[in-house]
Amino acid sequence: MHWSNIVDLLLGQVLSFKSNPFEHPFEEAARHIFKGAIVIENGKIAAVGDAADLLKTHPTARVTDYGERLLTAGFVDAHVHYPQTAIIASWGKRLIDWLNTYTFPEETRFFDAEYAQEISNRYLDLVLANGTTTVASYCTIHPESVNAIFTAAAERDMRIVAGKTCMDRNAPDGLRDTVQSAYDDSKALLEKWHGVGRAGYAITPRFSPTSTPEQLQALGALWAEYPDVLMQTHLSEQVDEIEWVKSLSPDARDYLDTYESCGLLGKGGLYGHAIYLTDREKDRLKEVDASLIHCPTSNTFIGSGLFDMAGLMADGHRIGLATDTGGGSNFSMLRTMAAAYEVGQLRGTPLHAAQLYWLATQGAARALHLDDKIGNISVGMEADIIALNMSSTPAIAQRTQHAEDIWEALFATIMMGDDRAIDATWVGGKLLC
Ligand code: GUN
Ligand code: ZN
Repeated sequence: MHWSNIVDLLLGQVLSFKSNPFEHPFEEAARHIFKGAIVIENGKIAAVGDAADLLKTHPTARVTDYGERLLTAGFVDAHVHYPQTAIIASWGKRLIDWLNTYTFPEETRFFDAEYAQEISNRYLDLVLANGTTTVASYCTIHPESVNAIFTAAAERDMRIVAGKTCMDRNAPDGLRDTVQSAYDDSKALLEKWHGVGRAGYAITPRFSPTSTPEQLQALGALWAEYPDVLMQTHLSEQVDEIEWVKSLSPDARDYLDTYESCGLLGKGGLYGHAIYLTDREKDRLKEVDASLIHCPTSNTFIGSGLFDMAGLMADGHRIGLATDTGGGSNFSMLRTMAAAYEVGQLRGTPLHAAQLYWLATQGAARALHLDDKIGNISVGMEADIIALNMSSTPAIAQRTQHAEDIWEALFATIMMGDDRAIDATWVGGKLLC
């Protein structure tokens, strides 16, 4: 990587987190500087503080003035399927029918490297315009789909997590691998991409219904060989799905056990949805410090259910937030925060703006074990930064105008904002859009 020796200094309101606002009062957990500044050097955040101070100490820096825009960490989307970009917002089905009707036919197209490249580029440009600077993505069974997304992310210098989706049963022709090819291809792709630039690999069995126990065992063995890579899968998303898992694995203690018995439960495991957990599952997930990924727009769109954010947080689970594109109905993490708020309301537990914003940045980064690198504005972090316009539409502006504090203003953008609220996206210290 060649760095220019330009030092950038961004001016604006600055929002960062000192701790988890689910565990500490948000006034203590968050830090808001009204006339703030961020200094970027060599792709990293070199200083954060008052504008006047940092302008004085960095007189030769290239200054970009974002006025009253809010400078925050770029959003981290902890569970997406980039190959579902073109079928997002497909009508009327629930999980298994939705997979068979819309998802699987689209995913069969990714044997074609050119198509995979086209969608990878389209998807990353869409998420960057929405202020998302890191995603953890499923690919398809095709190695081409994995190479495509890692290549597209490298071209943008984006930090990314991705992995080859593995499935060897209950999927159509052209969309099944085998025990051996899932292991071999995953291993080769992991060796090729993990730790290269800003890329990280995640071993990716789609979910138990589409992997034989033998395939899950093989991927569990691979994870044991490479314990520092992540592992992502789906868990207890929809009632019919859980019944199906029971009928496929009658001897398993529960859904989680179909993974646990194959070496696929551990820290570094990312479990998408996790809505209908038994007490045993919760205990084991907590014990190993696994990550639970809340996908609220997907859970309402596909009709899955209401994730227990308040209860699981109170029990100390590691939790991230995600769109679950394209089961999720929107690329925007603002819309995703709004949906998390709505789901909280339906459960009688409204989430504060600070909690929502933390979930979409540091919380999601923490779920991906990347919180030492991304998800916050502090010295030493990689400079993935967005400038958020908190008056991006007339409807939002008239609400923000009489907001009494930053949280009231930010909440209006969380509830009503979209890509129009993202005025700038900096990735690795470079302005990308
Ligand atoms: N479960 C297994 N595969 C998928 C998928 O692609 N999307 C969602 N939402 N759930 C799944
Ligand atoms: Zn998913």
